Amino acid sequence: MEEMNKKNLSRRGFLKTAALAGAALAMPGGLDNVFAAGTKQQPETSGKDTDAAHITGHRVLGTGEAVFEVSALGFGVMGMTYNRSQHPDKKQCIRLLHEAVDRGVTLFDTAIIYGPLNNEELAGEALSEFKGKINVTTKFGHEVINGKGTGRQDSRPQTIRRYCEESLRRLRLDSLPMFYQHRADPNVSAEEVASTIADLMKEGKVQRWGMCEVSPETIRKAHAVCPLTAIQSEYHLMHRLVEDNGVLDTCRELGIGFVPYSPINRGFLGGCINEYTVFDSNNDNRQTLPRFQPEAMRANMRIVNALQAFGRTRGMTSAQVALGWLLQKAPWIVPIPGTTKLSHLEENLRTLEFALSPEEWKELEVAVATIPVVGDRYNAEQQRQVGR
Ligand SMILES: NC(=O)c1ccc[n+]([C@@H]2O[C@H](COP(=O)([O-])OP(=O)(O)OC[C@H]3O[C@@H](n4cnc5c(N)ncnc54)[C@H](OP(=O)(O)O)[C@@H]3O)[C@@H](O)[C@H]2O)c1
Repeated sequence: MEEMNKKNLSRRGFLKTAALAGAALAMPGGLDNVFAAGTKQQPETSGKDTDAAHITGHRVLGTGEAVFEVSALGFGVMGMTYNRSQHPDKKQCIRLLHEAVDRGVTLFDTAIIYGPLNNEELAGEALSEFKGKINVTTKFGHEVINGKGTGRQDSRPQTIRRYCEESLRRLRLDSLPMFYQHRADPNVSAEEVASTIADLMKEGKVQRWGMCEVSPETIRKAHAVCPLTAIQSEYHLMHRLVEDNGVLDTCRELGIGFVPYSPINRGFLGGCINEYTVFDSNNDNRQTLPRFQPEAMRANMRIVNALQAFGRTRGMTSAQVALGWLLQKAPWIVPIPGTTKLSHLEENLRTLEFALSPEEWKELEVAVATIPVVGDRYNAEQQRQVGR
């Protein structure tokens, strides 16, 4: 027995040393290549398992009064109850969220519409005990009546106020670390939304705010009334619209952070789903998306293959390549991958241990650019709600 313990201990010691040595080898230039300006070292949390991946870098979203310091990678809570097919039971999800906190994640993302409501409830139950140490961001905008989404938008001032109170209750907080407008309401101007949020900030109910999937013009109008901390829009190697439509340039110019959602393209770039994957018909929006139809997935698998080929010689998985590519784009970018698995959490956090040169990332971009992306990202109705 004693012999076995010794063996375990020395194996653990070996793994730890190997992990540290591996991390050192993987970072010839330090973390600087990927995590340039704006990155700070984070003090260690409890760190139960010293072999586990642990985030050591912070990033800063927004500037001035809107500044928000968060872990270099966040955690998207959505899939733990909503739109990503089967998920583990609540107890296991809470355990995984606690693992993420232990490993240094300080940014967790949810929304009223996820569930609806039960995703915020889960985040509140799991994370409110870490209030002040970590942040849960949430979103308003999609109309929810009696716990059901109506498909309409409602960002009238009185509705934002009511949603804010309800989110505070479900998240078990006195003040929301960050409140995003999830989709623009065509009947309420950006200025009116911004001024409602400014009032909520004065009252101490909201600390920062952001917007999702809006145009540069809307960002400018809103930011002039109440400074934005971050824009959250879809961005990954299969969807680079924000590079072309001026959103990233506007964020850079105005000192607003950027939070890419669906950074692994809803799991596709992780290589675990393909044309044969059967999505849960009651709880997965991927089956409604043109890019997730079997023919499109079959064609787009070439992109996953390119990420895998790029990662293979560097010891990276395709999910790590996808996340690393986003992280090196700018120090004010913080992706929020979602997962229901400890192994994927571990893998995603280990992305931060790799440092590749700009030339290597260019090589990846060139390889991916030769492959056409098949299928739109959204169906017609979802497409109407973005870019306003
Ligand atoms: N603002 C908006 O309009 C908006 C829209 C969509 C999403 N979001 C936010 O963005 C977050 C993330 O988005 P998302 O869930 O759509 O997409 P995602 O993070 O790109 O992908 C999540 C999917 O990838 C899988 N995955 C995670 N890590 C993996 C890995 N290392 N290898 C292989 N597969 C992996 C997960 O499955 P497993 O559970 O099996 O790991 C999950 O099904 C959401 O939680 C939400 O907070 C915002």
